[in-house]
Amino acid sequence: MESILSDKKNRFVAGTVEKRDLNQYWYSPHTIAVMVQEIEEHATKVAFLSTPSLWFSLKESELKQHSFFFDVDMQWAWCPNFVKWDYNEPEGFDKSMHHAFDCVVIDPPFITPQVWAKYAQAALLLLSEGGKIILSTIEENAEMLKGLLEVEPQLFAPSIPHLVYQYALFTNYPSTYLSSLNPELF
Ligand SMILES: C[S@@+](CC[C@H](N)C(=O)[O-])C[C@H]1O[C@@H](n2cnc3c(N)ncnc32)[C@H](O)[C@@H]1O
Repeated sequence: MESILSDKKNRFVAGTVEKRDLNQYWYSPHTIAVMVQEIEEHATKVAFLSTPSLWFSLKESELKQHSFFFDVDMQWAWCPNFVKWDYNEPEGFDKSMHHAFDCVVIDPPFITPQVWAKYAQAALLLLSEGGKIILSTIEENAEMLKGLLEVEPQLFAPSIPHLVYQYALFTNYPSTYLSSLNPELF
């Protein structure tokens, strides 16, 4: 994997202003690099729910071509891999996407149980059997998320430079690159 110094720049992060009205908070370039490496190791077709920076940061590959990112922000409507989606209508995507993904990655704009219930509903409809889940939220949501999606906190915590909370990362499988501490946070 690239070092923290060499992945300081990320084209998406450098070129995409965070919109506060949509609670947009991008992961840091290093966190994106580690999460992308994890995804590239474990997935072949990913639904990125409210995690656009990750889809844009995948290397050009079949994985990227076959994956979609779901978001309410129409600035990406030009992109064929964008799905206009509002979590308030969690099942508001085409039936062809039901159980079509072997991985879902989630970072909602809010941390409440009500919002998480909607993201979980969408994730379970998108995932194929045995599908992998990677998500970020506050550590205090661990019990609620164990109940909803059977995920466990990982040692690697994401850096999200403009967010006041410290988030944790969770997965429903033994992760490869999310199992050690994030040097950005020390
Ligand atoms: C906390 S940010 C997560 C971004 C992620 N950390 C990344 O680096 O890609 C929340 C995301 O939710 C999206 N969002 C806001 N309101 C939404 C809605 N009603 N339905 C779906 N996505 C929404 C935002 O556009 C933003 O991409």
